[in-house]
Amino acid sequence: MNIKNFSLALVLSLAGTSVFAQQKMSKEAIDKKVDALLSKMTIEEKVGQMAQITLDVIGKGKDRYTSDEPFSLDKKETEKALLQYHVGSVLNTSNNRARTPQVWYNIINEIQNVAVKKGKNKIPVIYGVDEVHGATYTAGATMFPQQIGQAATFNRALVKEGASVTAYETRASAIPWNFSPILDLGADPRFPRQWESFGEDPFLVAQLGKEMIKGLEGDNNDVSNPFKVASSIKHFLGYQVPVSGKDRTPAIISDQALREYHLPAFKAAVDAGAKTIMINSGLINGVPVHANYKILTKLLREELGFKGLVVTDWGDIENLHKRDRVAKDNKEAVMMAINAGIDMSMIAYNYEPFCDDLVALVKEGKVKQSRIDDAVRNILRVKYELNLFEKPTTNIKDYPKFGSKEFEKVAYDAAAESMTLLKNNNNTLPLSKTAKVLVTGPNANSMRTLNGAWTYSWQGEKVEEFATKYNTIVKAIQNKVGAVNVTYLPGVSYKMDGKYFEDFADKMDETIAAAKNADVVVLCLGENTYTETPGNLSDLYISDLQTELAKKLAATGKTIVLVLNEGRPRVISKFEKNMSAILQSYLPGNFGGDAIADVLYGDVNPSGKLPYTYPQFPNALFTYYHKPSESRETTEGVYNYDADYNPQYVFGHGLSYTTFSYSDIKLSSNTLKKGETLEISVNVSNTGKVAGKESVLLYISDLVAHDISPDVKRLRGFDKIDLKAGETKTVTFKIKPEDIAYVNAELVTTTGEGEFTIQLGNKKANFNYTP
Ligand code: BGC
Repeated sequence: MNIKNFSLALVLSLAGTSVFAQQKMSKEAIDKKVDALLSKMTIEEKVGQMAQITLDVIGKGKDRYTSDEPFSLDKKETEKALLQYHVGSVLNTSNNRARTPQVWYNIINEIQNVAVKKGKNKIPVIYGVDEVHGATYTAGATMFPQQIGQAATFNRALVKEGASVTAYETRASAIPWNFSPILDLGADPRFPRQWESFGEDPFLVAQLGKEMIKGLEGDNNDVSNPFKVASSIKHFLGYQVPVSGKDRTPAIISDQALREYHLPAFKAAVDAGAKTIMINSGLINGVPVHANYKILTKLLREELGFKGLVVTDWGDIENLHKRDRVAKDNKEAVMMAINAGIDMSMIAYNYEPFCDDLVALVKEGKVKQSRIDDAVRNILRVKYELNLFEKPTTNIKDYPKFGSKEFEKVAYDAAAESMTLLKNNNNTLPLSKTAKVLVTGPNANSMRTLNGAWTYSWQGEKVEEFATKYNTIVKAIQNKVGAVNVTYLPGVSYKMDGKYFEDFADKMDETIAAAKNADVVVLCLGENTYTETPGNLSDLYISDLQTELAKKLAATGKTIVLVLNEGRPRVISKFEKNMSAILQSYLPGNFGGDAIADVLYGDVNPSGKLPYTYPQFPNALFTYYHKPSESRETTEGVYNYDADYNPQYVFGHGLSYTTFSYSDIKLSSNTLKKGETLEISVNVSNTGKVAGKESVLLYISDLVAHDISPDVKRLRGFDKIDLKAGETKTVTFKIKPEDIAYVNAELVTTTGEGEFTIQLGNKKANFNYTP
């Protein structure tokens, strides 16, 4: 080989990143470039950078809300937005529909050509999309379990790997910015986005959030790497706990609770270097978060030290006026939000009033020039960090692993590890491969329900069109045990063009009749797909028709295996006791059907654990970290009574086909002092007959907290281990005083003096903290 060929080969062999070899710019170099650019920009150009519009606004079509198909840019509208108004960012897909990577390349490349080649300052657009469980809006992309299922894996490495695949496939779609991860606390099972969270525990959310950021942005947050994207942690903060349980309705959260439960994940993410943040669309204590200076500037910028870009949620500046009525008109709304600390407005549609009003506000001195400069600095910095000035568009041709088997395996592994076995009476599972099964229920034959919303479209209604090559639950079971052993009848079906909660009896009588000829019934219940306000819920019980189907099947006396496929824990207590086994699959993604079948027939040993408390009654909603008064045992006296702590299944519950035993808790000391580290170890043994994975959860209870009543216990560590039959491993945790601290009534984070109890499996030990 000649020298020229040799060096080419060398370049091509460099860790697969050769085609992109480039130097990461230092922070100082970026700051210099940003300042130089800023000094050349007019106020109109700066304000334009702060505007973000949805793709349909510049698509050819009859209005701003829909575009013609096939999609093409409207030249006049594009130039108006990007050149006349200098709009700096575009988001979302058009017509609420996934596109192929090639189409994405064509669209974004054309947008960049206008912004960079025709724009006076040659500033690339930053394109953002919600790739929350894989590249949502890209046809052929790898779809992972939704975050709630990923949380159930308790597997940090899997979460990170999945995010890394998502970053790759997002860039393969020419998109550099991902509105993910969701760091909301999923503490309310009524909320229509609980499944987008990592569940109810602040520590779990923080830990997995960090992993997801690392997967998306890279270990050193070097997003100039063309296989990485800028993440956007959201929705800052307290978004998922409105009083009504319904999306974008008011939340009442004390400052203490905000800091104790909702802040830690965001703090951890800011410390992990997340590049951008999206704001909570709702109200806290009556004040819209988008207008809250204390939260957006005092807390986020000054206290947490966040240095990145702050973007609104959809239309939320306009909402200050139109929805929340804290501003008399759009102009006042813009003033409030920008002065509170917003850098970029996800305007979505009508960008002209935002731009015109903000320019006027600066000229009138109502928004300081320095505030605008700070905002634009934050935006330009991310654009430089993403290397968009050098390479405004990435191209699918450089991403050979897009949709590959290698990536699919990561998604399958995550789905398999998320499977959570809630009940298994008399070892009903695993099933024999020769058993005659009736597979039924509205979730049995649906790719849509396996994936959930944010899959090929916002509400997930287009999944069947894009996911034809993957297996539904019934298909995966047929593949495994042969079609002759499997009868499928829906019993109940969802109305596919109706509201997500609408269902109808679909051959219910035939289904009950067919059950009589089966050895086992695999009953697949749950929910159809939804997110945000369309997913609001008025009754947490699973639907009446699904309840009827379950009860009628139970009346046949057959063994029933209930497979749950749902975004939030719908109450099943009306028939739970009649089910022999129950498998929670959450929203496992395109490989969910295969993973479910593998668990049902024992090819995979389940190892998921519930990342939330599964309620038994709609009026009895708890988190596991409730106060002692919520779970008192009998109060003695003349009037004996119990506090009703009665979840269906507790947080962290999840069975296996093997058994684990915990022994030998050892502490490095019985006392912990300021500045010290306590080492806690425990032996975990696989005492059953098959290999299995176990998530070891470390709970610590502060027995007396002196002012705020302490939570009964809190998760302070977890680790997932793999054990062969008969094998024992020692798991060690290191705990510092700050790891067991709480926020006191004066909002100070403090570690209470006195006794603490450690719980690992069914073993306990105590230690003392003395400052
Ligand atoms: C959602 C966000 C999302 C945004 C952009 C909003 O309605 O609340 O989570 O990132 O839309 O699609």
